[in-house]
Parts: sequence; structure tokens; C-alpha cells
Amino acid sequence: MNSEQNSSLPGVTLPQCKPARLLVGQTALVTGASSGIGKSIAAAMAAAGAAVAVNYPFDSEHSPAAEVVELIQSLGGRAIAVKADVSREDQVQAMFLRVREEFETIDILVNNAGLQQDAPIDEMTLQQWKAVIDVNLTGQFLCAREAIREFKRRGVVESVSCAAGKILCISSVHEVIPWAGHVNYAASKGGVMMMMKSLAQELAPHRIRVNSICPGAIRTPINKAAWSTPEAYNDLMKLIPYKRIGEPDDIARVAVWLASDQADYINGESLFVDGGMCLYPGFAEGG
Ligand code: BGC
Repeated sequence: MNSEQNSSLPGVTLPQCKPARLLVGQTALVTGASSGIGKSIAAAMAAAGAAVAVNYPFDSEHSPAAEVVELIQSLGGRAIAVKADVSREDQVQAMFLRVREEFETIDILVNNAGLQQDAPIDEMTLQQWKAVIDVNLTGQFLCAREAIREFKRRGVVESVSCAAGKILCISSVHEVIPWAGHVNYAASKGGVMMMMKSLAQELAPHRIRVNSICPGAIRTPINKAAWSTPEAYNDLMKLIPYKRIGEPDDIARVAVWLASDQADYINGESLFVDGGMCLYPGFAEGG
């Protein structure tokens, strides 16, 4: 690993790792991959040798996903963009058909698509509750189910991977940290945790691994208000013992490894990538 002073923040050094080719010969579908964490995961998986399907939401423009595809192709990788609202069964099924048409099969699903619609509970509408549960939880179920059908149909191909398939659920520190004003979001991520663990238990005999990555505060559009001004950034640091915000690549590197055979004996785990956010930072001086 080669480290250098590469952050805009004084005194903060971010790791610069050359991607190991851990996913050569595999195909990955990354949902919500036109921006943020999903975009970084798609690019990192391609750099690790996977052919990548870049999903983007039904109501958004094609162009951000097309840019991710172009980026991957310019680096010599294989990629396609696939439009689907992950909360819609028909669209998810059509997306998997399209991916199989293009890449024949699928080895890795990254259940990343997610959103926030925040409100104090007495102002939260049923629509806000449903929108978040539908995408963050039901969307992960629908995509996992289609991926599992394909993993079971194909089984293990030893020249490709020790496992018949891998699912990474992108959850959040809020699968364990309660979050006032974000009840729909926290409930969706708590649901993802038990969905992931129950799937892992059910599917282990089929050599299908299901795990979660739980990001803390990562610099993406979803939480711009928490990092885009110096005041907000300083406040955020009170919650992060490691004293820097996470970058999408912090998650992408872990995703490549967790999906690879290097992590073959890991199943049913929530892996927190949060700079210590879950360590009850308030207790460093209190209690
Ligand atoms: C949320 C972010 C938040 C982070 C830490 C994530 O799951 O999407 O908005 O900054 O958790 O609280």
C-alpha cells in the first residue's frame, strides 16, 4: 500500500491501494450504481476484473450511469447500464434477464440502492415511510431473490469462485444506532440486518454467502448537509473517533474483498466501516 497526503483536509491521509484482481471472470450487478457508494463499488469491482452491470433508478437520467460505464470501459473493463426501480418486481426481473442476456450469469449482487426521506415522526407521511421501506428493504429482497434463483440454477463453478454466489447488502451503522428523525431509514436498515442473516442461514448449504457492509458517514450526496460546511463537518467529527469522513472508496475496497474468495468463510456478517462511529464516542470522556 502506498499512502500519500491526498485529502483536502489538513493532516488527513487516505489509503491509495492498487486494486488486486480478485474478481477476474466474475460478473457483478450493483444497484444504485450511478452515484455515491454504488458508483465506487462498480468501478472497484471492474478494476478487480469483474464485468459489471450498473443499475440506475427508473426515474433518473441515463447519463450518470452511462458515465460510470464509460469510465469502466476506458479502463479496459466490461460494463452495461441497466435501468430499474428496485422496488418494482417486474422491473427487477427484467433487469436480471437483461444482465443474463449480456453476461450469461451473475456471481455477485451488491444490494446498494437506497434513499432517505427524513422527517420528525409526527410529520412523517405514510408515503415517506413506504418510499424508504420499498427501496431500502423490499428492493433488497426482490434483487436478492432473483440473484439466488440464478445462483441455485448455476451452482458452483470452481474455476470462477468457491461459492455459488455472493450477496452484499449495503446497510448502515443505523442497523444498530437508533436515529431520531429518520425512523423509516433506521427501520429499513434494521430490517436489512435480519433479512441478510436469515438469508445467510438459509443459503449457506447452497454455498451462497450473504453479508452486509455497514457504512458510517461517507461523503456522498445523501448526507451533503452533514459535511459540506466547516461547521457541519466539525459537528460530524464529534461522532467519528477516527476524525475523518469516509470516502466511497473506503467502502468499495471492502466490497471487493468481501465478495472475493479471500472472504470465503465469512457468511451472515455485518461489517462496520465507520471510523469507529459505533464505539459510543460520547463515552470517551463521559460515563
Ligand atoms: C446515512 C447518512 C449518515 C450516516 C451516518 C448513513 O446510513 O445514509 O446520511 O451520514 O449513515 O449517520
